[in-house]
Amino acid sequence: MFKVAVIGASGLLGRAVVRELAAATPWQVVPTAFRHGGPQQTVLDVRDAQAVNAFVECEAPDAIVLAAAERRPDICEHDPAAARALNVDAVRSIATAARQRGAWVLSISTDYVFDGTQAPYRAGDTPNPLNAYGHSKLEGERALIEASDNALVLRLPLLYGPIVGWHESAVTSLVPAIIASAQPGAQAAPMDAWATRYPTFTPDVAFVIRELLLRCADGEPVRGVAQWSGDEPMTKHDIAVQLAQALGVEARLLAQPTPTDATPRPRDCHLDSGRLEALGMGRRTPFDVAIRAVLDAFMQNPQNGEPNA
Ligand SMILES: NC(=O)c1ccc[n+]([C@@H]2O[C@H](COP(=O)([O-])OP(=O)(O)OC[C@H]3O[C@@H](n4cnc5c(N)ncnc54)[C@H](OP(=O)(O)O)[C@@H]3O)[C@@H](O)[C@H]2O)c1
Repeated sequence: MFKVAVIGASGLLGRAVVRELAAATPWQVVPTAFRHGGPQQTVLDVRDAQAVNAFVECEAPDAIVLAAAERRPDICEHDPAAARALNVDAVRSIATAARQRGAWVLSISTDYVFDGTQAPYRAGDTPNPLNAYGHSKLEGERALIEASDNALVLRLPLLYGPIVGWHESAVTSLVPAIIASAQPGAQAAPMDAWATRYPTFTPDVAFVIRELLLRCADGEPVRGVAQWSGDEPMTKHDIAVQLAQALGVEARLLAQPTPTDATPRPRDCHLDSGRLEALGMGRRTPFDVAIRAVLDAFMQNPQNGEPNA
């Protein structure tokens, strides 16, 4: 039976991928985690190349979805060596082990490989990252392609989806400030109105990843670089307005017309999804529908956060 290892299965995206594969395929799925794994998940530190080799040898997957990473730009900026260990060196060792076993690797990257000055970006456009996170992910893309010719980089923009804590996504992390701003006498919550983002729903990405895995299972794996993105341009201020509506709170929001982040961020990295669309792939759930499902599920069941859990 087709066997898929999902590395980083305890994270925001990895959980959605495991859920999609379990619900919609008969495949054998091997989820791994590091610090936050459940009883069903194999513990694997991807920085340990020997452990990675032993895992791939032992499980012999047909395909590996790599969703483990350091994805927080501020953390990467302060500790680029730690970011590199996860976002570059671990990618190389997983791709090398996979090549030796003949497994296809799908490794997740980011729109932050671009500088945000010339959107929309096609997969072949020249990257120019502005921060340490973007640099590490771009190096990771190159490490993947160098180590294996049977691999795909999938670039994604800002993600949101079922959560186990508000902090898990840069979309839902706005919620505590939005709620606090609605309290009597509270100050308005500043929200970035400068950068345009394309929030993308993790169950939609998981759907796309399943479609890509299907092609691999059929012996026609997609290789190289592909991109997938939601199609609703929004600033964080726009996102906060929709979150406040969905939460039913009278938030006081202050639009910030210039960037205030200590870590430089690109202004608009809209990713062109044309390559996957031409293959007939993709699904986009409207933001207002998806965010209400995420908020309802988390408030009903904060331990799990999965819709219909
Ligand atoms: N979130 C976004 O908005 C966004 C946007 C664009 C691209 N991406 C990319 O999408 C991918 C998934 O991101 P995400 O948001 O799902 O990240 P996340 O929620 O922060 O999850 C990170 C995952 O990496 C695992 N991990 C961390 N250190 C590890 C280690 N040493 N060994 C093995 N696993 C380790 C974590 O496992 P434990 O928690 O069990 O330690 C967790 O499963 C990343 O490649 C990220 O760069 C994310």
